[in-house]
Amino acid sequence: MTMPTPTSSSPTAYPDPTSALPAGLPDPAMLARLANAFFAALPGSTLGGNGVPGSAPSELAAAAPALPASTNPVPPGSPMAGPSGAGSGIPGAAIPQGKVPGANLAPSAPTHVLSLGNRAPALLPHAAAQNGLPDNLVTIAPALDSRYGGTALGVPEAAAANLPADGAAGRSSASPYYFIDIARPPSYGVEDGPLPTASLLDPLGVPSLLPAGESANAGPPQGSSFGLPRGFAESAPARPDATERYFLEDIRSPGTPASGRTSDPAAQAQSGHPQFDVNAIRRDFPILQERVNGRQLVWFDNAATTQKPQTVIDRLAYFYLHENSNIHRAAHALAGRATDAYEGARNRVQRFIGASQPEEIVFVRGTTEAINLIAKSWGVQNVGAGDEIVVSHLEHHANIVPWQQLASLTGATLRVIPVDDSGQVLLEEYSRLLNGKTKIVAVTQVSNALGTVVPVKEMVEMAHRVGAVALIDGAQSVSHMRVDVQALDADFFVFSGHKVFGPTGIGAVYGKRALLDAMPPWQGGGNMISDVTFERTVFQPAPHRFEAGTGNIADAVGLGAAIDYVTRVGIENIARYEHELLDYATALMKPIPGVRLIGTAQDKASVLSFVLNGYTPEEVGRALSEEGIAVRAGHHCAQPILRRFGVEATVRPSLAFYNTPEEVDRMIAVVKRLARH
Ligand code: ALA
Repeated sequence: MTMPTPTSSSPTAYPDPTSALPAGLPDPAMLARLANAFFAALPGSTLGGNGVPGSAPSELAAAAPALPASTNPVPPGSPMAGPSGAGSGIPGAAIPQGKVPGANLAPSAPTHVLSLGNRAPALLPHAAAQNGLPDNLVTIAPALDSRYGGTALGVPEAAAANLPADGAAGRSSASPYYFIDIARPPSYGVEDGPLPTASLLDPLGVPSLLPAGESANAGPPQGSSFGLPRGFAESAPARPDATERYFLEDIRSPGTPASGRTSDPAAQAQSGHPQFDVNAIRRDFPILQERVNGRQLVWFDNAATTQKPQTVIDRLAYFYLHENSNIHRAAHALAGRATDAYEGARNRVQRFIGASQPEEIVFVRGTTEAINLIAKSWGVQNVGAGDEIVVSHLEHHANIVPWQQLASLTGATLRVIPVDDSGQVLLEEYSRLLNGKTKIVAVTQVSNALGTVVPVKEMVEMAHRVGAVALIDGAQSVSHMRVDVQALDADFFVFSGHKVFGPTGIGAVYGKRALLDAMPPWQGGGNMISDVTFERTVFQPAPHRFEAGTGNIADAVGLGAAIDYVTRVGIENIARYEHELLDYATALMKPIPGVRLIGTAQDKASVLSFVLNGYTPEEVGRALSEEGIAVRAGHHCAQPILRRFGVEATVRPSLAFYNTPEEVDRMIAVVKRLARH
């Protein structure tokens, strides 16, 4: 094709390119008008020849290229077909509007996962709110709202209104950090050897956090961080500014004078105690933006299970997108990744509870399976007729039934440590139960029904004095307090991942190495053997000999991510904040007429069990649920301790570090309303 030559009269006048178009096609301006009109037309309307929907078609409209009806281009049976976007999953059915075939296919690089960290949770409508707004309204709030949030994120309007319009230094914008600590360079506080960087750094779009800067010498707060003195109920002062109540930033070492609220990062860094910002924490838990019955969800059922931070959700997705494989058994790359991720999670559990080596950590489904493993392996091997097994009156059924089964199998006796009227174990009675026949003492560290914190260190010591081993049920403690199995000198320690912000179906047994090595496997199969013939089997050493079959690999990895999360926030920070919140809730609940608190021990964690005159616990639970507040109402799988207090069931709000005083207020308002009627 030769370029046209400019004419002398018009050096830049080239011939109109459309003149070269085949006859019968509209010119570009016409095409543009048609296109505009086409896309402006309402679905279902008829596009007329003048571009006005509904007007008479013309030959120009007829000339517009006909778009084929949108159909599923994915061949039937193709793995691309499915509800996730490339096809509808129904051969021949239309692709959802806006979907491009193949657009859902995951690139091999993890970059696309970055979007997971910031994307809004599922937006499917699921229930109409009573106020006429869709229940999912707030779920479309930007994931990275201001640290001060807004009503959509659970921050009271009063708090938002009190913020400086221009944003005071360090306070106005979303920060990826929970803690301001300018004195030290960022590091992660978790060394992981062979772990995939995915877990440590942030290929998932999850902000990396500065270390919590936890300090061993941090004493208990000298006053209420919510601005409420202890004994609030008695003195009933006016509620402080709501903004005050959302920060625990006045955590001080004993003896340090109260500095009041500080927003000066340098001062905070100097104090060695970082700011705990519950609103920043809340933004990490997408489900907290859920609406139930038209109200923002209040999750006060943390003793039953905890909610999951985005980082855990993303870690699970990352595993299935990039690492999924069975472990320990193939030469291929993904087997290596999955094995590294799984064993990395074991390392995290080891460090989290202070075990001396990863081989002391056995993955199981949860606390129930953990105790069953010990009873059915160590118990069958070590407990015989006439021996004694000691548990406390506080125990969850999971720490009673396996021992009853063992006792009836072996002829041993189950003995029970009584509690006082506050729900604390009676140590003198305990010491009277111990003797040379005691083979194991199995006690909870925190009661799931009453919240009592049990003096397990002392109890382990006492068990050891008579030659018994000690098992600590940590299901309700690991998410609320520092656990150090070596400092406790526990022989066994068990917990569930889902109660510490990890997935369900994964938990751990800690056992001292010598004990585990001497214990027989309790289940046989793949993964737990080193050699099998029809004549005999040689077992793997611990922990693999206790992990027969394909385990819950992904959820173990998710548990590792949960532990990283808790570690970054700082378990001591969590403990302090929750302690204040429980004090606050207790002070408000106790004086309500008709309320009886069940479990009033001096040392408690998280749980505020109560009954209300004139109502069954189920009725109270339902009334709370109508206001979007989730509590457990029932026997909490701990019938013996509830019967000790003369009840069959209680209402059991149980708190976590993402709960707020504002949420407590909402619950108290419902209970007060019920109490008035
Ligand atoms: N153990 C759990 C609870 O206390 C299920 O609710």
